[in-house]
Amino acid sequence: MSRSGAEIRVVDAGPEHLATITAIYNEAVRNTTAVWNSQVVTQEDRRAWWQDHQRSGYPVLVAVSPGPDGEQVLGYASLSGWRASFTGYRLTAEDSIYVAAEHRGRGAGRALATALIERARALGLHVIVAAIEAGNTASIRLHRSLGFERVALMRQVGVKFGSWLDLALMQLTLDSRSLPPGRS
Ligand SMILES: CC(C)(COP(=O)(O)OP(=O)(O)OC[C@H]1O[C@@H](n2cnc3c(N)ncnc32)[C@H](O)[C@@H]1OP(=O)(O)O)[C@@H](O)C(=O)NCCC(=O)NCCS
Repeated sequence: MSRSGAEIRVVDAGPEHLATITAIYNEAVRNTTAVWNSQVVTQEDRRAWWQDHQRSGYPVLVAVSPGPDGEQVLGYASLSGWRASFTGYRLTAEDSIYVAAEHRGRGAGRALATALIERARALGLHVIVAAIEAGNTASIRLHRSLGFERVALMRQVGVKFGSWLDLALMQLTLDSRSLPPGRS
């Protein structure tokens, strides 16, 4: 239940959600330093991204709630491989969470992040990494409230809107498992 009182559900994203996902992503590209790209994308680009997640087994989730014209998408979230071209990182994934500007601050981000953590556990992952622009207070607080801790601050590794960007790396370790002896 959100703070605004409207019911929020988190479900797997399907092709019917890609138009809104594209719009939310492009708004973040245009107006925020949450995503360090300057190029907006097409819905076909997001379809390829979604299909890639379907193939790899990483979740793409949407937060939905009843709206004036039926069910509306409030935001979306995904897990992706962290440094995925190296097999040694296979038990670590990176999260992404985007809520539509008009729906922020009502609990959708928390609902999405909580659901992503559950999915990561179900997938047998060991660590979730969040790579967050260091001035993104909302995202840093959200992640901290869910148990993520800041493990690194990388200075001036990005640039957007004519400014250097610092990157805060946060991580949530999901379990305390030991690897079997001899396994790498
Ligand atoms: C960051 C983001 C995903 C948070 O989603 P949201 O739906 O707005 O957040 P919620 O309403 O679920 O709030 C969850 C927690 O986030 C933090 N938070 C959210 N908005 C905040 C704000 N404006 N200032 C400070 N903290 C904030 C709080 O800790 C909040 O918990 P609380 O209300 O119990 O204090 C959302 O603001 C967003 O999509 N921003 C633009 C894209 C982005 O930055 N994505 C993350 C990239 S790393």
